[in-house]
Amino acid sequence: MSLKTMKKWPRVLVLVLLLCGLFYYFYLYIFIKSSNKAVLVKTLCDSRNISQKWESLNFNVSRSEKLFLNLEDFFWQLYLSKLSLPYGVKGSELFLAKVLAAMTSYDMPGKIKNLPCRSCVVVGNGFVIKNSSLGNAINNYDIVIRLNNAPVRGYEDDVGNKTTMRLFYPESASFDPGLQNDPGTLMVLVPFKQKDVIWLKEILYNEKRTLRKGFWKIPPQIWLAKPSQIRILDPYFMHQTASRVLHLPINTPAKRNKISSHPTTGILAIYVALNFCDVVHIAGFGYPDSKNIKYPIHYYGHDTMKSMKNSYHNLSTEAKALKRLEDSGAVVNLCRSPVLTKAQPKLLYTVF
Ligand SMILES: *[C@@H]1O[C@H](CO)[C@@H](O)[C@H](O)[C@H]1NC(C)=O
Ligand SMILES: *[C@@H]1O[C@H](CO)[C@@H](O)[C@H](O)[C@H]1NC(C)=O
Ligand SMILES: *[C@@H]1O[C@H](CO)[C@@H](O)[C@H](O)[C@H]1NC(C)=O
Ligand SMILES: *[C@@H]1O[C@H](CO)[C@@H](O)[C@H](O)[C@H]1NC(C)=O
Ligand SMILES: *[C@@H]1O[C@H](CO)[C@@H](O)[C@H](O)[C@H]1NC(C)=O
Repeated sequence: MSLKTMKKWPRVLVLVLLLCGLFYYFYLYIFIKSSNKAVLVKTLCDSRNISQKWESLNFNVSRSEKLFLNLEDFFWQLYLSKLSLPYGVKGSELFLAKVLAAMTSYDMPGKIKNLPCRSCVVVGNGFVIKNSSLGNAINNYDIVIRLNNAPVRGYEDDVGNKTTMRLFYPESASFDPGLQNDPGTLMVLVPFKQKDVIWLKEILYNEKRTLRKGFWKIPPQIWLAKPSQIRILDPYFMHQTASRVLHLPINTPAKRNKISSHPTTGILAIYVALNFCDVVHIAGFGYPDSKNIKYPIHYYGHDTMKSMKNSYHNLSTEAKALKRLEDSGAVVNLCRSPVLTKAQPKLLYTVF
């Protein structure tokens, strides 16, 4: 070996060591990142926990993962229901069968159904989510559930832009679901009354539109959703939300002179998520102190508490029920959970 090559050795050695170190740190980084994720997902998704949590809620009913009405229910078996909408299908069976016959699927997409652990976030429409910067975190859940006509365009930083399912009723439908949803978003009709089903029937069969009365707001007469993305929520969930979660009196039809109060789409969506998901987080829930009628209630638009005054919902009952769900740990509220969102934003983003 010449003196010249001997002199080069240390430099080569340093270079090799440097490269090794780099690779080592790179692998360490990947390892920590992936193991962190695995551990956290496992902690969040421990199946004992979700059943434990469910039991602790004392609903006294099993979880049900079958969320949507299926044509077979009407075709092969007699769908027996003692209650009419919104709590059962009594009296609306034929309309529902006709609507279901025009649809192409009654299930969740396979890639969601087959997830080993389903992490869900229910995004409420409340003003509280404004300026929350939760958009990125929300986009990282497997399943993002949104409500009614809540927009995402222009609000992405706070509410994200991914939508797996959107629960709605005709009055809260917007004529082109493509504007605020993904191409694959499931548009899930929550039927409150028979006319809601007839509205969908007239749209799907392009029949003469006969409905203007009987809605508190005229629903769109043109609705551009694809049949493949439409589902109908089983009224079972509305019934269970009213009876098990809110303990509302179930009297349909309503007694005379008495408006019966029904669950809001929001609390309904949380109950649906508790049935279908292994992890249930929520954001954008809660109304302002109802004495302050000028306070905005949504993160968009100009609605104030005043517009909720004569609603069909009992907001104080819902607020108490929601608090019970949060206190039990079955539901985590991102808007009330500074540990999760403020101190460890990176954690939240990488967990899901
Ligand atoms: C899941 O349940 C186990 C056993 O009860 C408990 O030790 C653990 O802390 C729970 N994990 C979470 C994330 O709640
Ligand atoms: C639970 O439900 C069963 C039947 O549905 C009923 O017999 C039982 O009394 C219920 N228990 C509670 C605690 O509500
Ligand atoms: C949100 O942030 C903007 C800009 O920083 C501010 O003008 C606005 O008052 C904030 N709104 C709320 C509800 O905090
Ligand atoms: C959401 O926003 C991101 C970043 O702007 C974009 O890449 C993505 O395509 C959007 N997704 C949807 C469903 O709009
Ligand atoms: C809501 O429910 C509570 C408890 O059942 C009841 O006392 C209250 O009067 C209800 N409020 C409205 C506005 O119906």
